[in-house]
Amino acid sequence: MLSAEDNEVLTRVGPGTLMGDLLRRYWTPALLSLELPEPDGPPVRVRLLGENLVAFRDTAGRVGLIQENCPHRGASLYFGRVEDCGLRCPYHGWQFDVDGRCIDMPSEPPASTFKDRVTAKAYPVHESGGIVWTYMGPPDTMTPFRDFGTETLPPDKAQARKQLAECNWVQSMEGNLDTTHISWLHQFDAVADIPDDGSDKPGYPSNAMSWAFWRHDRAPRLEVEDTWYGYRYAGLRATPAGNVHVRITDFIAPYTSIVAAIPFTSRQALCVPIDDHRTWRYGLVTQEPRNPRDHGGAPLFANTPYITRLNQTDSGITRRDYTPENEYRIDREVQRTATFTGIPDFNAQDLMVTETMGPIYDRSQEHLGTSDRAVIRMRRLLITAARELREHSTSPPGLGGPGRDFRAIRAAEKILEPGEDWRLLGTDADPTVREAMGWTAR
Ligand code: FES
Ligand SMILES: [Fe+2]
Repeated sequence: MLSAEDNEVLTRVGPGTLMGDLLRRYWTPALLSLELPEPDGPPVRVRLLGENLVAFRDTAGRVGLIQENCPHRGASLYFGRVEDCGLRCPYHGWQFDVDGRCIDMPSEPPASTFKDRVTAKAYPVHESGGIVWTYMGPPDTMTPFRDFGTETLPPDKAQARKQLAECNWVQSMEGNLDTTHISWLHQFDAVADIPDDGSDKPGYPSNAMSWAFWRHDRAPRLEVEDTWYGYRYAGLRATPAGNVHVRITDFIAPYTSIVAAIPFTSRQALCVPIDDHRTWRYGLVTQEPRNPRDHGGAPLFANTPYITRLNQTDSGITRRDYTPENEYRIDREVQRTATFTGIPDFNAQDLMVTETMGPIYDRSQEHLGTSDRAVIRMRRLLITAARELREHSTSPPGLGGPGRDFRAIRAAEKILEPGEDWRLLGTDADPTVREAMGWTAR
């Protein structure tokens, strides 16, 4: 549990809050590049960390992210016109460029120099991997963009998407950092019929068999190890053949996780606060996926009638077809006879459990067990970092620096070889990674 005070520190993100100040030290997703598909297209409302902003792509293709309310008398620039390399307010025609400079003030006398003294608040942006990132902290503490591989990712391999979660960002993220729940929330009875394909042995399993292992041992042991970017943790499960199956998840401060996959992955999930009560859940491909040994096989959920595919829109936003209002389309008969929840969508199952806690759960009411170790560590890390920043100006964790390679952060899933240390899996030193990257001969 957390004290009421710590819960406030952890969850509140507006300007001037402890966590809000911490989050503003990182380059943060503001929106998808697909939301601004062309120059001079319509602007987009962006609410981020409790601030109302508007994004637009100007005539030259540059993206601007500025305050939504016009500096003149406050009309919403969302209703403005994007033209002539700027965003023009619908009320009196004042126009602002991507840096927030007022470049036209047609309602004042032509000789007036007033426009040179008016600016809109503007945040720097950087497009990478299909996301428009921004930095909202003090200009003098801005650090380089964290490149997890998107800077060199071929554009046709880039894939970013997002889905709305109607709850606090930490609550949403806690699901990503909780390996235990895959043995429960996402389970369905057909897993018991998965044929043994012989991959219950060191160096494997297949994707399908991993589902069977999650179901076989439903109380994994968790081991957490702190790293320079946050932590890595292992969920250890016994397999039917008596092997040790491990799922490794990374937490990268402040809101990124890489969830285990076979044999390894760098695909990210980011829980970005819209405000205290709502979250954009981003999914991001950072590097070309590699699956060298091809023993992962097709993900099991591609073939099951109980887990439907995502509902993508053209702008990369996954629609919310499962909501509190329709009770996430729970089917009690399916719940009784076929799946653990009766909710027919993998993501919706996660949204159901995290949203129904309420917008900000009162964590003084919870009872944490040993399976919550990773969640506990994330909370402590963030609360400590926010307090240290405020009280001692301590540099936040995971901003990088000399010798820090964000591209080397990967999650992994595997049955361990006898005596094998899980800490090696997914790292640059892992033979599976080296083979996939073509480094073996070096
Ligand atoms: S309120 Fe925007 S130009 Fe007047
Ligand atoms: Fe989940």
